Amino acid sequence: MVNFGVLASVALTAAFTTVDGRPQHGHIHQHRSSLVSAKVEAGPTPYTSNGTNSTSIGNTTLPDVIRGVNIGGWLILEKWMTPDIFENSDATDQYTFDSTDGAEAKLKQHWETYFTEADVKKIASLGINALRIPIGYWDFFNDTTPYIRGADACLEKAIGWARKAGLKVLVDCHGSPGSQNGFDNSGRSGVVKWQTDDNLDVSIKALQNIAKKYGSTSYADVVFAIQLVNEPISWAQNNFTLIQSWTKQAFHAVKSASTNPHLQIIMHDAFTTPWAWQDIGGELNGNAPLKTAPFAIDTHLYQNQVAADSLLTQEQHIAKACNWTSSNLLPASSNLPVYVGEFSAQTNICAYLNGTTVGGDKCYEDGCQCSCNVDIEDWKEPLVKATRRFLEAELDAFEKGGRGWFMWSWKGPGAWGLENVVRFGVLGEKVTEREFPGQCGFS
Ligand SMILES: *[C@@H]1O[C@H](CO)[C@@H](O)[C@H](O)[C@H]1NC(C)=O
Ligand SMILES: *[C@@H]1O[C@H](CO)[C@@H](O)[C@H](O)[C@H]1NC(C)=O
Ligand SMILES: *[C@@H]1O[C@H](CO)[C@@H](O)[C@H](O)[C@H]1NC(C)=O
Ligand SMILES: *[C@@H]1O[C@H](CO)[C@@H](O)[C@H](O)[C@H]1NC(C)=O
Ligand SMILES: *[C@@H]1O[C@H](CO)[C@@H](O)[C@H](O)[C@H]1NC(C)=O
Ligand SMILES: *[C@@H]1O[C@H](CO)[C@@H](O)[C@H](O)[C@H]1NC(C)=O
Ligand SMILES: *[C@@H]1O[C@H](CO)[C@@H](O)[C@H](O)[C@H]1NC(C)=O
Repeated sequence: MVNFGVLASVALTAAFTTVDGRPQHGHIHQHRSSLVSAKVEAGPTPYTSNGTNSTSIGNTTLPDVIRGVNIGGWLILEKWMTPDIFENSDATDQYTFDSTDGAEAKLKQHWETYFTEADVKKIASLGINALRIPIGYWDFFNDTTPYIRGADACLEKAIGWARKAGLKVLVDCHGSPGSQNGFDNSGRSGVVKWQTDDNLDVSIKALQNIAKKYGSTSYADVVFAIQLVNEPISWAQNNFTLIQSWTKQAFHAVKSASTNPHLQIIMHDAFTTPWAWQDIGGELNGNAPLKTAPFAIDTHLYQNQVAADSLLTQEQHIAKACNWTSSNLLPASSNLPVYVGEFSAQTNICAYLNGTTVGGDKCYEDGCQCSCNVDIEDWKEPLVKATRRFLEAELDAFEKGGRGWFMWSWKGPGAWGLENVVRFGVLGEKVTEREFPGQCGFS
Protein backbone atom coordinates (compact mmCIF):
# COMPACT_ATOMS: atom_id res chain seq x y z
CA MET A 1 0.00 0.00 0.00
CA VAL A 2 2.10 2.82 1.23
CA ASN A 3 4.54 3.89 -1.36
CA PHE A 4 7.34 5.24 0.70
CA GLY A 5 9.47 3.47 3.14
CA VAL A 6 9.46 4.78 6.65
CA LEU A 7 11.81 2.00 7.26
CA ALA A 8 15.22 0.78 8.01
CA SER A 9 17.96 2.72 6.26
CA VAL A 10 15.62 4.78 4.13
CA ALA A 11 15.37 8.52 4.62
CA LEU A 12 12.43 9.47 6.75
CA THR A 13 11.53 12.66 4.91
CA ALA A 14 8.09 11.67 3.73
CA ALA A 15 6.80 10.93 7.18
CA PHE A 16 7.65 14.43 8.31
CA THR A 17 6.45 16.41 5.31
CA THR A 18 2.77 15.87 5.60
CA VAL A 19 0.24 18.64 5.45
CA ASP A 20 -3.08 19.01 7.26
CA GLY A 21 -3.14 15.63 8.94
CA ARG A 22 -4.29 13.76 5.86
CA PRO A 23 -2.59 10.55 4.94
CA GLN A 24 0.09 11.64 2.56
CA HIS A 25 1.29 8.55 0.86
CA GLY A 26 4.67 9.80 0.01
CA HIS A 27 6.05 11.26 -3.08
CA ILE A 28 3.51 11.75 -5.81
CA HIS A 29 5.68 11.56 -8.89
CA GLN A 30 4.81 13.14 -12.14
CA HIS A 31 4.69 10.31 -14.59
CA ARG A 32 7.27 10.26 -17.29
CA SER A 33 5.54 10.66 -20.59
CA SER A 34 8.56 9.46 -22.53
CA LEU A 35 8.33 6.13 -20.81
CA VAL A 36 4.64 5.63 -20.88
CA SER A 37 3.90 6.65 -24.43
CA ALA A 38 4.78 3.21 -25.73
CA LYS A 39 1.77 1.10 -24.93
CA VAL A 40 2.42 -2.49 -24.25
CA GLU A 41 0.53 -4.60 -26.69
CA ALA A 42 -0.76 -7.63 -24.91
CA GLY A 43 -3.39 -9.91 -26.28
CA PRO A 44 -6.46 -10.47 -24.21
CA THR A 45 -5.96 -13.09 -21.57
CA PRO A 46 -8.86 -15.43 -21.89
CA TYR A 47 -10.55 -15.97 -18.62
CA THR A 48 -13.22 -18.47 -17.96
CA SER A 49 -16.59 -17.47 -16.68
CA ASN A 50 -16.24 -19.88 -13.78
CA GLY A 51 -13.68 -22.01 -12.04
CA THR A 52 -11.73 -24.36 -14.25
CA ASN A 53 -10.53 -26.58 -11.43
CA SER A 54 -13.21 -28.90 -10.34
CA THR A 55 -13.68 -28.91 -6.62
CA SER A 56 -16.05 -30.40 -4.21
CA ILE A 57 -17.51 -27.56 -2.25
CA GLY A 58 -15.56 -27.55 0.96
CA ASN A 59 -16.11 -25.57 4.10
CA THR A 60 -17.59 -22.18 3.32
CA THR A 61 -17.89 -21.13 6.96
CA LEU A 62 -15.65 -18.22 7.83
CA PRO A 63 -13.54 -18.36 10.96
CA ASP A 64 -14.88 -16.15 13.76
CA VAL A 65 -11.84 -13.92 13.52
CA ILE A 66 -10.09 -13.38 10.22
CA ARG A 67 -6.35 -13.17 10.90
CA GLY A 68 -4.72 -12.33 7.65
CA VAL A 69 -1.77 -10.97 5.77
CA ASN A 70 -1.45 -9.04 2.52
CA ILE A 71 0.60 -10.42 -0.32
CA GLY A 72 1.73 -6.93 -1.30
CA GLY A 73 4.48 -6.10 -3.77
CA TRP A 74 3.77 -9.24 -5.75
CA LEU A 75 1.20 -8.85 -8.53
CA ILE A 76 1.38 -5.04 -8.37
CA LEU A 77 4.89 -3.70 -7.93
CA GLU A 78 5.74 -1.07 -5.32
CA LYS A 79 9.26 0.21 -5.65
CA TRP A 80 9.83 0.79 -1.92
CA MET A 81 9.03 -2.88 -1.30
CA THR A 82 11.04 -4.46 -4.10
CA PRO A 83 13.66 -1.91 -5.15
CA ASP A 84 15.83 -4.56 -6.80
CA ILE A 85 13.48 -5.19 -9.68
CA PHE A 86 13.56 -1.45 -10.48
CA GLU A 87 17.35 -1.35 -10.64
CA ASN A 88 18.80 0.07 -13.86
CA SER A 89 15.49 1.55 -14.91
CA ASP A 90 13.75 4.91 -14.57
CA ALA A 91 10.47 3.22 -13.75
CA THR A 92 8.72 4.33 -10.59
CA ASP A 93 5.61 2.16 -10.65
CA GLN A 94 4.00 -0.75 -12.49
CA TYR A 95 2.79 1.51 -15.28
CA THR A 96 6.23 2.83 -16.16
CA PHE A 97 7.93 -0.48 -15.39
CA ASP A 98 5.79 -2.33 -17.91
CA SER A 99 7.17 -0.28 -20.81
CA THR A 100 10.83 -0.79 -19.94
CA ASP A 101 13.09 -3.19 -21.81
CA GLY A 102 12.76 -6.75 -20.68
CA ALA A 103 9.89 -5.94 -18.35
CA GLU A 104 7.90 -9.03 -19.16
CA ALA A 105 10.73 -11.46 -18.39
CA LYS A 106 11.57 -9.63 -15.16
CA LEU A 107 7.96 -9.65 -14.08
CA LYS A 108 7.54 -13.33 -14.74
CA GLN A 109 10.68 -14.05 -12.74
CA HIS A 110 9.36 -11.91 -9.88
CA TRP A 111 5.93 -13.56 -9.96
CA GLU A 112 7.52 -17.02 -9.83
CA THR A 113 9.93 -16.33 -6.99
CA TYR A 114 8.64 -13.58 -4.69
CA PHE A 115 5.74 -15.61 -3.36
CA THR A 116 5.55 -19.39 -3.47
CA GLU A 117 3.69 -22.31 -1.95
CA ALA A 118 6.39 -22.49 0.75
CA ASP A 119 5.32 -18.98 1.84
CA VAL A 120 1.71 -20.11 2.07
CA LYS A 121 2.68 -23.04 4.27
CA LYS A 122 4.77 -20.83 6.53
CA ILE A 123 1.92 -18.29 6.76
CA ALA A 124 -0.58 -21.01 7.68
CA SER A 125 1.79 -22.32 10.37
CA LEU A 126 1.64 -18.94 12.13
CA GLY A 127 -2.10 -19.22 12.68
CA ILE A 128 -2.96 -16.88 9.85
CA ASN A 129 -6.24 -17.97 8.25
CA ALA A 130 -6.62 -15.62 5.28
CA LEU A 131 -4.71 -13.84 2.52
CA ARG A 132 -5.53 -10.50 0.93
CA ILE A 133 -4.07 -10.62 -2.56
CA PRO A 134 -3.81 -7.32 -4.46
CA ILE A 135 -4.11 -7.49 -8.25
CA GLY A 136 -4.73 -4.93 -11.01
CA TYR A 137 -7.93 -4.54 -13.04
CA TRP A 138 -5.88 -5.02 -16.22
CA ASP A 139 -5.80 -8.77 -15.83
CA PHE A 140 -9.58 -8.96 -15.89
CA PHE A 141 -10.38 -6.57 -18.67
CA ASN A 142 -10.36 -7.58 -22.30
CA ASP A 143 -9.40 -4.35 -24.03
CA THR A 144 -5.79 -3.36 -24.41
CA THR A 145 -4.37 -1.58 -21.38
CA PRO A 146 -0.86 -0.19 -20.85
CA TYR A 147 -0.09 -3.04 -18.46
CA ILE A 148 1.50 -6.43 -19.00
CA ARG A 149 -0.93 -9.20 -18.28
CA GLY A 150 -0.48 -12.60 -16.78
CA ALA A 151 -0.57 -11.98 -13.03
CA ASP A 152 -4.01 -13.59 -12.91
CA ALA A 153 -2.43 -16.98 -13.56
CA CYS A 154 -0.32 -16.45 -10.44
CA LEU A 155 -3.38 -15.43 -8.46
CA GLU A 156 -5.05 -18.66 -9.53
CA LYS A 157 -2.07 -20.70 -8.40
CA ALA A 158 -1.96 -18.89 -5.07
CA ILE A 159 -5.64 -19.53 -4.49
CA GLY A 160 -4.97 -23.20 -5.05
CA TRP A 161 -2.12 -23.16 -2.51
CA ALA A 162 -4.36 -21.34 -0.05
CA ARG A 163 -7.10 -23.90 -0.53
CA LYS A 164 -4.66 -26.73 0.20
CA ALA A 165 -3.42 -24.96 3.32
CA GLY A 166 -6.95 -24.20 4.54
CA LEU A 167 -6.61 -20.43 4.12
CA LYS A 168 -9.35 -18.10 2.86
CA VAL A 169 -8.61 -15.52 0.17
CA LEU A 170 -9.77 -11.96 -0.38
CA VAL A 171 -9.25 -11.06 -4.05
CA ASP A 172 -8.42 -7.37 -3.86
CA CYS A 173 -8.77 -5.24 -6.99
CA HIS A 174 -5.96 -2.93 -5.91
CA GLY A 175 -5.29 -1.12 -9.17
CA SER A 176 -8.34 0.52 -10.73
CA PRO A 177 -8.58 2.06 -14.20
CA GLY A 178 -7.16 5.57 -14.40
CA SER A 179 -5.77 5.19 -10.85
CA GLN A 180 -8.04 5.73 -7.89
CA ASN A 181 -5.40 7.49 -5.80
CA GLY A 182 -2.27 8.49 -7.71
CA PHE A 183 -0.16 6.30 -5.45
CA ASP A 184 2.14 3.67 -6.90
CA ASN A 185 0.08 1.01 -5.15
CA SER A 186 -2.64 1.60 -7.75
CA GLY A 187 -0.18 0.69 -10.50
CA ARG A 188 0.23 4.30 -11.54
CA SER A 189 1.48 7.22 -9.46
CA GLY A 190 0.91 10.89 -10.13
CA VAL A 191 -2.51 10.87 -11.76
CA VAL A 192 -6.00 10.23 -10.45
CA LYS A 193 -8.45 9.59 -13.27
CA TRP A 194 -10.66 6.85 -11.89
CA GLN A 195 -13.73 9.08 -11.92
CA THR A 196 -13.15 10.42 -15.43
CA ASP A 197 -14.08 9.12 -18.88
CA ASP A 198 -15.49 5.61 -18.74
CA ASN A 199 -13.14 4.45 -16.00
CA LEU A 200 -15.85 3.86 -13.39
CA ASP A 201 -17.64 1.60 -15.87
CA VAL A 202 -14.46 -0.21 -16.79
CA SER A 203 -13.85 -0.66 -13.08
CA ILE A 204 -17.19 -2.44 -12.77
CA LYS A 205 -16.62 -4.56 -15.88
CA ALA A 206 -13.32 -5.80 -14.54
CA LEU A 207 -14.92 -6.55 -11.17
CA GLN A 208 -17.68 -8.50 -12.88
CA ASN A 209 -15.06 -10.58 -14.65
CA ILE A 210 -13.34 -11.22 -11.34
CA ALA A 211 -16.72 -12.13 -9.84
CA LYS A 212 -17.71 -14.49 -12.66
CA LYS A 213 -14.69 -16.56 -11.82
CA TYR A 214 -13.86 -16.03 -8.16
CA GLY A 215 -17.40 -15.33 -7.03
CA SER A 216 -18.55 -18.65 -8.45
CA THR A 217 -19.58 -21.57 -6.30
CA SER A 218 -16.54 -23.51 -7.45
CA TYR A 219 -14.33 -21.17 -5.41
CA ALA A 220 -16.73 -20.73 -2.49
CA ASP A 221 -14.60 -22.83 -0.17
CA VAL A 222 -11.61 -20.52 -0.56
CA VAL A 223 -12.44 -17.08 -1.99
CA PHE A 224 -14.59 -15.47 0.69
CA ALA A 225 -14.54 -11.91 -0.60
CA ILE A 226 -13.80 -9.54 -3.46
CA GLN A 227 -12.63 -6.00 -2.79
CA LEU A 228 -14.04 -3.34 -5.14
CA VAL A 229 -11.33 -0.68 -4.84
CA ASN A 230 -8.29 -0.08 -2.67
CA GLU A 231 -7.74 3.32 -1.07
CA PRO A 232 -9.57 5.65 -3.42
CA ILE A 233 -8.84 9.16 -2.23
CA SER A 234 -11.93 11.11 -1.20
CA TRP A 235 -10.53 14.54 -1.99
CA ALA A 236 -8.98 16.37 -4.96
CA GLN A 237 -9.94 14.53 -8.16
CA ASN A 238 -12.32 12.13 -6.45
CA ASN A 239 -15.81 12.98 -5.25
CA PHE A 240 -16.81 11.03 -2.14
CA THR A 241 -20.53 11.21 -2.91
CA LEU A 242 -19.81 9.60 -6.23
CA ILE A 243 -17.59 6.96 -4.59
CA GLN A 244 -20.48 5.97 -2.36
CA SER A 245 -23.11 5.83 -5.10
CA TRP A 246 -20.69 3.91 -7.33
CA THR A 247 -20.09 1.45 -4.49
CA LYS A 248 -23.76 0.54 -4.36
CA GLN A 249 -23.83 0.07 -8.12
CA ALA A 250 -20.66 -2.03 -8.06
CA PHE A 251 -21.99 -4.11 -5.15
CA HIS A 252 -25.07 -5.11 -7.14
CA ALA A 253 -23.06 -5.73 -10.31
CA VAL A 254 -20.63 -8.02 -8.49
CA LYS A 255 -23.43 -9.80 -6.67
CA SER A 256 -25.25 -10.53 -9.88
CA ALA A 257 -22.09 -11.82 -11.54
CA SER A 258 -21.45 -14.20 -8.62
CA THR A 259 -23.06 -17.50 -7.81
CA ASN A 260 -21.46 -17.98 -4.38
CA PRO A 261 -24.20 -16.85 -2.01
CA HIS A 262 -21.66 -16.38 0.82
CA LEU A 263 -19.38 -14.05 -1.11
CA GLN A 264 -18.60 -10.82 0.72
CA ILE A 265 -18.06 -7.58 -1.12
CA ILE A 266 -15.61 -5.24 0.50
CA MET A 267 -15.00 -1.55 -0.10
CA HIS A 268 -12.25 0.64 1.30
CA ASP A 269 -13.54 3.57 3.37
CA ALA A 270 -11.79 6.11 1.10
CA PHE A 271 -9.77 7.48 4.06
CA THR A 272 -12.88 8.46 5.98
CA THR A 273 -13.77 6.01 8.75
CA PRO A 274 -16.25 3.13 8.77
CA TRP A 275 -18.63 5.49 10.57
CA ALA A 276 -19.19 7.31 7.26
CA TRP A 277 -20.38 4.04 5.65
CA GLN A 278 -23.00 2.94 8.13
CA ASP A 279 -25.95 4.09 6.04
CA ILE A 280 -24.69 2.09 3.09
CA GLY A 281 -24.09 -0.84 5.42
CA GLY A 282 -27.69 -0.60 6.55
CA GLU A 283 -28.94 -0.37 2.99
CA LEU A 284 -26.92 -3.29 1.64
CA ASN A 285 -26.90 -5.57 4.68
CA GLY A 286 -30.33 -5.01 6.16
CA ASN A 287 -30.55 -7.08 9.30
CA ALA A 288 -27.95 -9.64 8.27
CA PRO A 289 -25.76 -10.63 11.22
CA LEU A 290 -22.28 -9.08 11.22
CA LYS A 291 -20.71 -12.46 10.67
CA THR A 292 -22.42 -13.15 7.36
CA ALA A 293 -23.35 -9.69 6.07
CA PRO A 294 -22.65 -9.44 2.33
CA PHE A 295 -21.11 -5.95 2.43
CA ALA A 296 -18.13 -5.01 4.57
CA ILE A 297 -15.88 -2.00 4.88
CA ASP A 298 -12.09 -2.02 4.83
CA THR A 299 -10.18 0.57 6.81
CA HIS A 300 -6.42 1.03 6.93
CA LEU A 301 -4.99 1.94 10.30
CA TYR A 302 -1.41 3.12 10.23
CA GLN A 303 0.55 5.22 12.72
CA ASN A 304 3.41 6.08 10.40
CA GLN A 305 1.77 8.15 7.69
CA VAL A 306 1.32 11.62 9.16
CA ALA A 307 3.84 13.91 10.79
CA ALA A 308 1.98 14.11 14.09
CA ASP A 309 2.37 10.37 14.63
CA SER A 310 6.14 10.71 14.54
CA LEU A 311 5.99 12.80 17.73
CA LEU A 312 4.39 10.06 19.82
CA THR A 313 6.11 7.79 22.30
CA GLN A 314 5.33 4.10 21.96
CA GLU A 315 3.02 4.32 24.98
CA GLN A 316 1.03 6.96 23.13
CA HIS A 317 0.98 4.83 19.99
CA ILE A 318 -0.40 1.96 22.03
CA ALA A 319 -3.08 4.13 23.66
CA LYS A 320 -4.11 5.33 20.23
CA ALA A 321 -4.28 1.78 18.89
CA CYS A 322 -6.45 0.64 21.80
CA ASN A 323 -8.67 3.66 21.28
CA TRP A 324 -9.26 2.70 17.62
CA THR A 325 -12.01 0.40 18.86
CA SER A 326 -14.13 3.46 19.54
CA SER A 327 -12.61 6.10 17.26
CA ASN A 328 -12.53 4.07 14.04
CA LEU A 329 -13.95 0.60 14.39
CA LEU A 330 -17.69 0.16 14.84
CA PRO A 331 -19.64 -1.20 17.81
CA ALA A 332 -20.97 -4.76 17.64
CA SER A 333 -24.48 -3.31 17.28
CA SER A 334 -23.58 -1.92 13.85
CA ASN A 335 -24.70 -3.70 10.69
CA LEU A 336 -21.43 -3.08 8.91
CA PRO A 337 -18.54 -5.51 9.43
CA VAL A 338 -15.12 -3.86 9.44
CA TYR A 339 -11.88 -5.37 8.22
CA VAL A 340 -8.60 -3.69 8.99
CA GLY A 341 -7.29 -4.55 5.55
CA GLU A 342 -3.90 -2.96 6.19
CA PHE A 343 -1.78 -1.93 9.16
CA SER A 344 1.86 -2.12 10.14
CA ALA A 345 4.03 -2.74 13.19
CA GLN A 346 6.14 0.23 12.11
CA THR A 347 6.03 3.43 14.17
CA ASN A 348 8.70 6.08 14.11
CA ILE A 349 10.17 5.73 17.57
CA CYS A 350 13.53 5.57 19.25
CA ALA A 351 14.06 3.22 22.20
CA TYR A 352 16.60 3.90 24.98
CA LEU A 353 18.34 1.00 26.69
CA ASN A 354 16.15 1.50 29.78
CA GLY A 355 13.04 0.88 27.64
CA THR A 356 11.86 4.50 27.44
CA THR A 357 10.78 5.55 23.96
CA VAL A 358 10.51 8.90 22.21
CA GLY A 359 8.99 9.73 18.85
CA GLY A 360 11.04 10.49 15.76
CA ASP A 361 14.25 9.49 14.10
CA LYS A 362 17.00 10.78 16.37
CA CYS A 363 18.54 9.91 19.70
CA TYR A 364 22.05 10.53 20.79
CA GLU A 365 22.74 8.13 23.61
CA ASP A 366 24.84 5.01 23.18
CA GLY A 367 22.63 2.02 22.51
CA CYS A 368 19.55 4.04 21.69
CA GLN A 369 18.02 2.98 18.37
CA CYS A 370 15.41 4.49 16.08
CA SER A 371 13.14 2.12 14.21
CA CYS A 372 13.24 4.07 10.96
CA ASN A 373 16.98 3.99 10.45
CA VAL A 374 18.29 0.79 12.00
CA ASP A 375 17.87 -2.51 10.16
CA ILE A 376 15.47 -4.81 11.97
CA GLU A 377 18.09 -7.55 12.21
CA ASP A 378 20.19 -5.17 14.35
CA TRP A 379 17.41 -4.15 16.71
CA LYS A 380 18.27 -4.53 20.38
CA GLU A 381 15.84 -5.80 22.92
CA PRO A 382 14.27 -2.45 23.91
CA LEU A 383 13.25 -1.66 20.35
CA VAL A 384 12.07 -5.22 19.68
CA LYS A 385 9.97 -5.23 22.84
CA ALA A 386 8.51 -1.77 22.28
CA THR A 387 7.50 -2.76 18.76
CA ARG A 388 6.05 -6.02 19.96
CA ARG A 389 3.95 -4.22 22.57
CA PHE A 390 2.49 -2.01 19.88
CA LEU A 391 1.80 -4.82 17.42
CA GLU A 392 0.13 -6.96 20.07
CA ALA A 393 -2.03 -4.00 21.16
CA GLU A 394 -3.03 -3.43 17.54
CA LEU A 395 -4.09 -7.05 17.13
CA ASP A 396 -6.05 -6.91 20.39
CA ALA A 397 -7.88 -3.81 19.19
CA PHE A 398 -8.66 -5.24 15.76
CA GLU A 399 -9.98 -8.47 17.25
CA LYS A 400 -12.10 -6.53 19.72
CA GLY A 401 -13.66 -4.15 17.24
CA GLY A 402 -13.27 -5.69 13.79
CA ARG A 403 -14.30 -8.71 11.75
CA GLY A 404 -10.66 -9.33 10.96
CA TRP A 405 -7.27 -7.92 10.05
CA PHE A 406 -4.62 -8.20 7.36
CA MET A 407 -1.11 -6.99 8.11
CA TRP A 408 0.76 -5.13 5.37
CA SER A 409 2.65 -7.11 4.17
CA TRP A 410 4.05 -10.68 4.22
CA LYS A 411 7.41 -9.67 2.77
CA GLY A 412 7.35 -6.01 3.69
CA PRO A 413 10.73 -4.51 4.59
CA GLY A 414 11.67 -4.06 8.26
CA ALA A 415 8.75 -4.02 10.67
CA TRP A 416 6.43 -3.80 7.66
CA GLY A 417 6.92 -7.50 7.09
CA LEU A 418 5.03 -10.22 8.94
CA GLU A 419 7.77 -12.64 7.93
CA ASN A 420 10.35 -10.28 9.48
CA VAL A 421 8.51 -9.54 12.69
CA VAL A 422 8.12 -13.22 13.43
CA ARG A 423 11.75 -13.91 12.55
CA PHE A 424 13.09 -11.13 14.77
CA GLY A 425 10.87 -11.74 17.79
CA VAL A 426 8.50 -8.82 17.30
CA LEU A 427 5.68 -11.37 17.32
CA GLY A 428 5.47 -14.97 18.53
CA GLU A 429 5.44 -18.10 16.39
CA LYS A 430 1.65 -17.89 16.49
CA VAL A 431 -0.10 -14.61 15.80
CA THR A 432 -2.44 -15.30 18.71
CA GLU A 433 0.44 -15.53 21.20
CA ARG A 434 0.81 -12.54 23.54
CA GLU A 435 3.89 -11.56 25.48
CA PHE A 436 2.04 -8.44 26.67
CA PRO A 437 -1.56 -9.52 27.17
CA GLY A 438 -4.37 -7.19 28.14
CA GLN A 439 -2.63 -3.91 27.26
CA CYS A 440 -5.89 -2.32 26.15
CA GLY A 441 -7.79 -3.48 29.24
CA PHE A 442 -10.64 -4.88 27.18
CA SER A 443 -13.02 -7.02 29.17
C1 LIG B 1 -18.34 -23.79 -15.97
O1 LIG B 1 -19.41 -23.45 -16.83
C2 LIG B 1 -19.68 -24.45 -17.79
C3 LIG B 1 -20.72 -23.88 -18.75
O2 LIG B 1 -21.59 -23.01 -18.11
C4 LIG B 1 -20.15 -25.70 -17.07
O3 LIG B 1 -20.42 -26.73 -18.02
C5 LIG B 1 -19.06 -26.16 -16.13
O4 LIG B 1 -19.51 -27.27 -15.39
C6 LIG B 1 -18.67 -25.06 -15.19
N1 LIG B 1 -17.50 -25.47 -14.41
C7 LIG B 1 -17.40 -25.25 -13.10
C8 LIG B 1 -16.13 -25.75 -12.48
O5 LIG B 1 -18.23 -24.70 -12.43
C1 LIG C 1 -15.54 -25.03 8.92
O1 LIG C 1 -14.76 -23.88 9.25
C2 LIG C 1 -15.14 -23.29 10.47
C3 LIG C 1 -14.36 -21.99 10.63
O2 LIG C 1 -12.99 -22.21 10.50
C4 LIG C 1 -14.86 -24.28 11.60
O3 LIG C 1 -15.28 -23.70 12.82
C5 LIG C 1 -15.64 -25.57 11.34
O4 LIG C 1 -15.26 -26.50 12.31
C6 LIG C 1 -15.33 -26.11 9.96
N1 LIG C 1 -16.22 -27.23 9.69
C7 LIG C 1 -15.77 -28.37 9.19
C8 LIG C 1 -16.81 -29.41 8.91
O5 LIG C 1 -14.59 -28.58 8.97
C1 LIG D 1 -12.96 -11.59 -23.50
O1 LIG D 1 -12.29 -12.17 -24.60
C2 LIG D 1 -12.47 -13.56 -24.72
C3 LIG D 1 -11.57 -14.06 -25.82
O2 LIG D 1 -11.70 -13.26 -26.95
C4 LIG D 1 -13.95 -13.85 -24.95
O3 LIG D 1 -14.16 -15.24 -25.03
C5 LIG D 1 -14.75 -13.30 -23.79
O4 LIG D 1 -16.13 -13.47 -24.01
C6 LIG D 1 -14.46 -11.83 -23.56
N1 LIG D 1 -15.08 -11.43 -22.33
C7 LIG D 1 -15.72 -10.28 -22.17
C8 LIG D 1 -16.29 -10.04 -20.82
O5 LIG D 1 -15.85 -9.46 -23.07
C1 LIG E 1 -5.91 -25.13 -10.37
O1 LIG E 1 -5.02 -26.11 -10.88
C2 LIG E 1 -3.69 -25.66 -11.06
C3 LIG E 1 -2.91 -26.79 -11.73
O2 LIG E 1 -3.02 -27.94 -10.95
C4 LIG E 1 -3.11 -25.26 -9.72
O3 LIG E 1 -1.81 -24.74 -9.88
C5 LIG E 1 -3.99 -24.20 -9.10
O4 LIG E 1 -3.49 -23.89 -7.81
C6 LIG E 1 -5.44 -24.69 -9.00
N1 LIG E 1 -6.27 -23.63 -8.53
C7 LIG E 1 -7.14 -23.78 -7.55
C8 LIG E 1 -7.90 -22.58 -7.17
O5 LIG E 1 -7.32 -24.82 -6.96
C1 LIG F 1 -20.05 15.27 -6.05
O1 LIG F 1 -21.01 14.47 -6.71
C2 LIG F 1 -22.34 14.77 -6.33
C3 LIG F 1 -23.22 13.70 -6.95
O2 LIG F 1 -22.94 13.55 -8.30
C4 LIG F 1 -22.68 16.16 -6.74
O3 LIG F 1 -24.00 16.49 -6.36
C5 LIG F 1 -21.72 17.13 -6.06
O4 LIG F 1 -21.93 18.43 -6.52
C6 LIG F 1 -20.26 16.72 -6.35
N1 LIG F 1 -19.40 17.52 -5.51
C7 LIG F 1 -18.39 18.20 -6.02
C8 LIG F 1 -17.55 18.94 -5.02
O5 LIG F 1 -18.15 18.24 -7.20
C1 LIG G 1 -10.09 8.30 21.42
O1 LIG G 1 -11.25 8.24 20.59
C2 LIG G 1 -12.14 9.31 20.75
C3 LIG G 1 -13.33 9.04 19.87
O2 LIG G 1 -13.95 7.85 20.23
C4 LIG G 1 -11.46 10.60 20.39
O3 LIG G 1 -12.33 11.67 20.62
C5 LIG G 1 -10.19 10.77 21.21
O4 LIG G 1 -9.47 11.88 20.75
C6 LIG G 1 -9.31 9.53 21.09
N1 LIG G 1 -8.16 9.64 21.97
C7 LIG G 1 -6.93 9.32 21.58
C8 LIG G 1 -5.86 9.43 22.62
O5 LIG G 1 -6.66 8.96 20.46
C1 LIG H 1 15.65 6.34 30.33
O1 LIG H 1 16.75 6.93 29.68
C2 LIG H 1 16.50 8.19 29.09
C3 LIG H 1 17.75 8.61 28.33
O2 LIG H 1 18.85 8.58 29.17
C4 LIG H 1 16.10 9.18 30.14
O3 LIG H 1 15.83 10.44 29.54
C5 LIG H 1 14.87 8.67 30.85
O4 LIG H 1 14.53 9.54 31.91
C6 LIG H 1 15.12 7.27 31.40
N1 LIG H 1 13.84 6.75 31.88
C7 LIG H 1 13.73 6.15 33.04
C8 LIG H 1 12.35 5.69 33.41
O5 LIG H 1 14.68 5.97 33.76
